[in-house]
Amino acid sequence: MAEDLAPKEVTAPEATTVAPVVVTVCTTCRRDGGDPEAKRPGRVLAEALNTADLPEGVTVRGVECLSACSRSCSILIEGGKSRWSYIYGNLDPDTHLDDITAGITAYATTTDGLVPWRERPVIFRKQSVARIPPLEFPSVDLTKDDCA
Ligand code: FES
Repeated sequence: MAEDLAPKEVTAPEATTVAPVVVTVCTTCRRDGGDPEAKRPGRVLAEALNTADLPEGVTVRGVECLSACSRSCSILIEGGKSRWSYIYGNLDPDTHLDDITAGITAYATTTDGLVPWRERPVIFRKQSVARIPPLEFPSVDLTKDDCA
């Protein structure tokens, strides 16, 4: 019985260091030449992603305009203050869903948002509109005049 009262080594639960991932889809872009009465492609994509098999911790939301209107459909992928964020455009909900899902899944496994180039779906390699550094990312040295 005395052994039961002996102090036991307590280990803290493994800390969760990976922030949630948020995928924001513009739901209002129009497709050139598309049926103006049809559901907008971004809305179709947002609904599809919302029911797709994405990793735990990934949420999908729709917003009206990401200011990438000429690159419809467009999405923003972000994941907390330590990850780079990405905007991708020219996405087609009919043909790109599997690649988008794979790209989001790869992103969600990172702590910094940087998926190795060869592991990114081709559409993410070729259709990036912008990448945005984490807020805490250090600046280049602006006092050096090295033209780099
Ligand atoms: S309407 Fe979709 S990015 Fe502006």
